[in-house]
Amino acid sequence: MNDLIEFDSKRQVFHLHNGNISYLFSVEEGGTLCHLYFGRRVQKYHGELKYPRVDRGFSGNLPGSLDRTFSRDTLPKEYSGAGEMDYHTPAAVIRRNDGSNALMLRYSGYSIEDGKPELEGLPAAWVEKPEEAQTLTVTLKDEPTGLLYDLLYTIYRDVDIITRSVRVRNAGNEDVFLEKAASLQIDFTDRDFDSICLPGAHANERHPERQRVGYGIQKFGSIRGTSSHQMNPFLALADRKADEYSGDVYGFAMVYSGNHSFEVERDQIDQTHLVIGINDYNFSWKLEPGSAFQTPEVLMTYSDRGFDRMSQSFHRIIRDRIVRSRFAHEERPILVNNWEATYFDFDEEKLKTIVDDAKDLGIEMFVLDDGWFGHRDDDNSSLGDWKVYERKFPSGLGHFADYVHEKGLGFGLWFEPEMISYDSDLYRDHPEYLMHVPGREPSPSRNQYVLDLTRKEVVDNLFEQVSEILESGRIDYVKWDMNRHLSDVYSASLPKDRQGEVYHRYVLGLYDLMERLTEKFPDVLFEGCSGGGGRFDAGMAYYMPQIWTSDNTDAVSRLTIQYGTSLVYPISMTTAHVSAIPNHQTGRKTPFETRGNAAMSAVFGYELDLTRMSQEDRDKVKEQVSCYKDIRNLVQYGTFHRLKSPVDTNQAAWMFVSDDRRDVCVMTFQVLASAQPSLTKTKLTGLDPELEYENLETGEVFGGDELMELGFYDPVVHQDYTSKMYRFRAL
Ligand code: DGJ
Repeated sequence: MNDLIEFDSKRQVFHLHNGNISYLFSVEEGGTLCHLYFGRRVQKYHGELKYPRVDRGFSGNLPGSLDRTFSRDTLPKEYSGAGEMDYHTPAAVIRRNDGSNALMLRYSGYSIEDGKPELEGLPAAWVEKPEEAQTLTVTLKDEPTGLLYDLLYTIYRDVDIITRSVRVRNAGNEDVFLEKAASLQIDFTDRDFDSICLPGAHANERHPERQRVGYGIQKFGSIRGTSSHQMNPFLALADRKADEYSGDVYGFAMVYSGNHSFEVERDQIDQTHLVIGINDYNFSWKLEPGSAFQTPEVLMTYSDRGFDRMSQSFHRIIRDRIVRSRFAHEERPILVNNWEATYFDFDEEKLKTIVDDAKDLGIEMFVLDDGWFGHRDDDNSSLGDWKVYERKFPSGLGHFADYVHEKGLGFGLWFEPEMISYDSDLYRDHPEYLMHVPGREPSPSRNQYVLDLTRKEVVDNLFEQVSEILESGRIDYVKWDMNRHLSDVYSASLPKDRQGEVYHRYVLGLYDLMERLTEKFPDVLFEGCSGGGGRFDAGMAYYMPQIWTSDNTDAVSRLTIQYGTSLVYPISMTTAHVSAIPNHQTGRKTPFETRGNAAMSAVFGYELDLTRMSQEDRDKVKEQVSCYKDIRNLVQYGTFHRLKSPVDTNQAAWMFVSDDRRDVCVMTFQVLASAQPSLTKTKLTGLDPELEYENLETGEVFGGDELMELGFYDPVVHQDYTSKMYRFRAL
């Protein structure tokens, strides 16, 4: 049933389409794949958009051809190799044993299949049934080396997503080194774009940054070994006038948790060239004859209705076809985590008092964070020794877990499997497991070091240790942390000509470990974490349906962090906790209600010492817990719309609406108060204009069209950091 992908053999044009979008490219002179179009659906392509042939100086021509009007340098392409007369940043770079790097990729064939193949060893979008999607594989060949580049395109039927990746096969008879192997290239003509990326820092993640795409190459990426707090693996290209609800927006997100690169280039004739893939910094992959290399996948979407629609497509594909956990569509428990309550200073008796209070307040899970293992009283020791700390739990961890369960709460446990402390039995027994360059002292970060996950025996050891704890059957949730980035990137287990593989092999080792653990313990809810949101990406979402968004729990900081996160990632993946004031990261004192509304805009919980709260605050916790139980399904699985951006402004607003458009929750926030405030309104979206909606607090009734077109005035409040939640229900 090949109805999503067509090949017009007369014009040599591939057309991928669903009800909303079309993607077109053709095979041109010299077997060059020429990008034609990506945008709103067209029924049929009749050949209108053939790229004009122009003789341009210093843009050379095809080998063996005297046609000065055809140049691979100017033609918009699907995939460019270095050395093939294309001066854009290439998608593919190789190195042969003779030192040359030339590559001339020419079309050699295609195949179309229903469904979507799995990518070996890598997370990727999937299908439940083959009719949900179709996959086109176009093969390019470099004759002298025998290298085959399979460009994989999958288009989904019911969500506006095309996935792309590349498989490189060595069908020649000599080793070749891949020095750059991008997952996606796309070239646009006649566009004037802004780029939107998500830079940040620890405790300050994913702040949207918008700027015009200018001349030269701009590279957004990470060389930290992880997807990073500093630059999320996402980029959008948008019309300069595009906004939340109008204009063309192209979104790209990698399903990958390691080094990444998003290169965008405006060229000499104002074309826009985009290349996305594993960062080529310290990357070199030895491809022996007969072997293959699979790049990570990129999710690509087009929206003709601004950023909102781009986000809806990302949210749907990630929530419904990336996350595999059985919790993908389940309501997530409200938890209390002891980190900001106790840090390392706790024992079983202290924790029991928090558990008792959690029970009284209606909280559903207790999460035991860092400090329960080895002899860990601070961050100097014990990483690698996943055995209970007997001084803190004299009767064993199971004893405490049973106590939590007897109270009717779930029990969650923190791990940081990828790390090792010098002061650990694991290091004493296996110093070679620590990633380091022989003859150099490795750099510490948070007093800890990275395990060499490229080694199978290290992955096996971690699998055994973590399994042993989870096998007790007493752990309902795991928080998987990672508190430093990679340095001293070298593996003693690999030969010198494979050291350029270590960054990527680390990620493959991590995926292998998570694959084995999540498969063995399907009933454990896994939450990803890396010093907060340092590895908040679609690759992690494949294994872990939710991720700790940021170590910054300040409600005001969270507005921008959660707003930026929502550009790509669904609410069901985003966790947020109410914490104490003054806030531990910013020192800010925000009202309880504001902290609650910010945290209830995500997968909700608490991170404070419940035993030290005033009665007034305890009452508020009870109210919040019961309110969240009421809105939980709507928040976690409804449609999320951004209404007002907190980026460089004094307000934020967003809303959640159920699929049937009858149930609505709106959160508004004002950062600073003013003596003479301007009057502002909040206008809703996504409602049924024909329906009438009741404000559940006041009983007032409004038309859906009124709420969307007229909106309502925001309250005038003479206090900083205020927030209000509105609930509307269709009559
Ligand atoms: C960083 C995490 O983001 C925190 O929530 C906490 O788990 C600490 N690590 C513990 O070391």
